[in-house]
Amino acid sequence: MQQSKNTSSRRSFVKKIAAGAALLGTSGPAILYGKNEAEQVALSRQNRFSANDNIQIALIGAGGMGVEDTKTALQVPGTKLVAVCDLYTGRLGEAKERWGKDLFTTKDYREILDRQDVDAVIIATPDHWHKQISVDALMKGKGAYCEKPMVQNVAEGPAVVQAQQKSGKTYQVGSQGLSSLGNEKAKELYESGAIGQLIYAEGFWARNSPTGAWQYAIPADASPETVDWDRYIANTTKRSFDPLRFFRWRNYRDYGTGVSGDLFVHLFSSLHFVTSSMGPNKVMATGGLRYWKDGREVPDVLLGMFDYPETKAHPAFNLSLRVNFVDGTSGSTYLRMVGSEGAMDVTWDDVFLRKNLTSDPMDAFMSAKSNEFDKALGARKKMLPPKEVHYKVEEGYLGAHYDHFTHFLEGVRNGKPVVEDAVFGYRAAAPALLCNDSYFEEKTVRWDPVAMKKM
Ligand SMILES: NC(=O)c1ccc[n+]([C@@H]2O[C@H](COP(=O)([O-])OP(=O)(O)OC[C@H]3O[C@@H](n4cnc5c(N)ncnc54)[C@H](O)[C@@H]3O)[C@@H](O)[C@H]2O)c1
Repeated sequence: MQQSKNTSSRRSFVKKIAAGAALLGTSGPAILYGKNEAEQVALSRQNRFSANDNIQIALIGAGGMGVEDTKTALQVPGTKLVAVCDLYTGRLGEAKERWGKDLFTTKDYREILDRQDVDAVIIATPDHWHKQISVDALMKGKGAYCEKPMVQNVAEGPAVVQAQQKSGKTYQVGSQGLSSLGNEKAKELYESGAIGQLIYAEGFWARNSPTGAWQYAIPADASPETVDWDRYIANTTKRSFDPLRFFRWRNYRDYGTGVSGDLFVHLFSSLHFVTSSMGPNKVMATGGLRYWKDGREVPDVLLGMFDYPETKAHPAFNLSLRVNFVDGTSGSTYLRMVGSEGAMDVTWDDVFLRKNLTSDPMDAFMSAKSNEFDKALGARKKMLPPKEVHYKVEEGYLGAHYDHFTHFLEGVRNGKPVVEDAVFGYRAAAPALLCNDSYFEEKTVRWDPVAMKKM
């Protein structure tokens, strides 16, 4: 493990500056001459970074999403990548080609967490490693951005929630959509009563290609020499090396979470953000393996139904979600919220607000008056409000992913609360993961969304 002298002096300089600022309510070089450095360092924890200082990050899991996450994080000013961990030699080589030969690389994530020059990590491994690396990172004092779903099964959630609370470190789950302008607008519209009383919501994810259905290419050099297979399966069923289980991990229950953990979780995150919901109390799923019969253990069509109980934030309502990996129309994804006075189709970049009514149909008095008025005045036409309003992001918007990383890195820098912490991430993951229990065990599953417990 290497660590540059420059880095540690950078950090102690930052600590002193921040400590002084906290003590004196000011900033500037004079504060470097504080009396008791140990005391100052402790006080500086809330504000370790000066405005111009880099947050130094490391990536754990340098595959498709890890690379995208890192590229996005590096777009946020004041972010620097110092180390990368992956279990496949090819990905470590690509990381050095992309980000420079001096990058520290390893196959053991604990070496990343031991480094003093790493302030925060991105965790983009397959799902079965999310819990352990999240807990270890937080307890080593690192901020952590963990890809969705936060955990691989419901029983793992409390450990991450507790590690975040105990460590006091910034932890954000990677359902980037909820940081988007589209989701923020939908929340504002929903809270202002734009669709009336929420009755029903639905979401859909359709794909129609081999890669969309997780049949990724297997590198030609994949072998036990290039893949640290023992480390990969260290926390799950022992098996001999299988490149399909490593590079197409989503298809297997030991490592992935099926279509619900992969995709429903995004829809839950957005829905919970818009409605301030904690989640459903009843989960039912059915579906089947209709087309991609390549040895996978999970369905390629899944239908989920969810009952949301009434809370202070929203009325009781129903949700229906679908994923179809064999859809000739392909590419269609949406989240629709239907209320007593209209509906909203919500994406990360748009909101389509639709209203088909000119008056409240539930108001019998107004309806009778309007009929009388029509009779008296004859056939004169009315001015109608718009039936559909389309809110769209302005050109140049950097997108949900950038906004989500900005939230996370501001959390690391200033201790500001993030939008998708461990509790939020757990409440979004749980109903998605419970779909797998419902599907495989062929039963209705009950969940307490407030206590976050399976019933
Ligand atoms: N937020 C999103 O929109 C989004 C999109 C895609 C994927 N994801 C999530 O990102 C995660 C990664 O998915 P992906 O598509 O990038 O998979 P991937 O297979 O492309 O990459 C995973 C990488 O992790 C490495 N790895 C496996 N176990 C490891 C370990 N113990 N330590 C270090 N590295 C390890 C693998 O070698 C691989 O390079 C998943 O949790 C997935 O759900 C999120």
